[in-house]
Amino acid sequence: MYNDFFKKEIYLKKIDSTNNYLKLTSFEDNFIIYTFNQTKGRGRRNREWLDFKNKNLAISFLIRSTIDPIWLICTASLSLIDVLNSLNIKNSWIKWPNDIYINDKKLSGILAESVWSDKKIEKVIIGIGININNNIKDLIKLNNATSIYIETGKKQNLKTIYKGFKRELSKWLIELIENKNFNLIRNKWKELSLISSKKIKWINGDNIIYGLINDIKDDGTLVIKTIDDNLYEVKSGDVLLDEVN
Ligand code: BTN
Repeated sequence: MYNDFFKKEIYLKKIDSTNNYLKLTSFEDNFIIYTFNQTKGRGRRNREWLDFKNKNLAISFLIRSTIDPIWLICTASLSLIDVLNSLNIKNSWIKWPNDIYINDKKLSGILAESVWSDKKIEKVIIGIGININNNIKDLIKLNNATSIYIETGKKQNLKTIYKGFKRELSKWLIELIENKNFNLIRNKWKELSLISSKKIKWINGDNIIYGLINDIKDDGTLVIKTIDDNLYEVKSGDVLLDEVN
C-alpha cells in the first residue's frame, strides 16, 4: 500500500462537471473525485471541455492550502506524465501552464479554480481531463487533440489509469505540501516544459510576444526571451507553438 495523500475519494457515475461538484459541495480537505461520464465539462476561459462517455477521465481534487495554485497544477501535470511514461508513451511535455501534449497534440487540460472567503483563498479545486480511449473520429472537431488510444493503438482501462494517476499525484502532493520540496518539483517541471529549441507565440488578449521559453520562476511566472534578447515575464495567457516565426 502506498502513502495515500487523499483522505477520501468518490466515484461518480455521471456528473455535469467534477469541478462544479467540488465547488458547490462542502467537502473536507484532500478530497478527490472522478467520473468516466462528465456531461458538461468546463475548460479555461469559459471554453467547453468535450468528454465522451467511457472514453475520457475527468478528475477533480480539493486542497485547502495557501500554496499558489500553479504548484498544484504542476503536480497534476507531472503525475500524468509519470503515468504516460509507465505506458511507454514518449514525447509528452507540459505546455505552460495547464496542458499536457504528446508531440504537437493536446492530450489533457487542467482547470484550476479558487474559492475565496474574506479576501483569502479558502480552497483550490484542480480539475484534469484526459483523453483516453477516443478515436480519431471523436476528436476530429477539435483542433490538435489526441488520446492515449490514438497514440498507442491500445484501449485502456479507465479505472487503472485513474488509480495510477492518483498514486503519482499522492507522491507529488506529499513532496509539495508535506516536504515542501519545491526545488525537486520545479526542476522536474522545467525539464518537461522547457522546449527551448521551439519558438513560441504568447497571446493574452491583444498582447502577443514571439520568442523562446527562457525560464519558469518559483511563482509559476513564465520568462520569454525575444529575438532581440529582451526578457518578458508573464503569468497568464496562452502559449502556442509558433511554426511560422
Ligand atoms: C482546458 O484545457 O481548458 C482545461 C480543461 C479542464 C477539464 C477538466 S475535466 C475535470 C474538470 N471538470 C471540469 O468541468 N473541467 C475540468
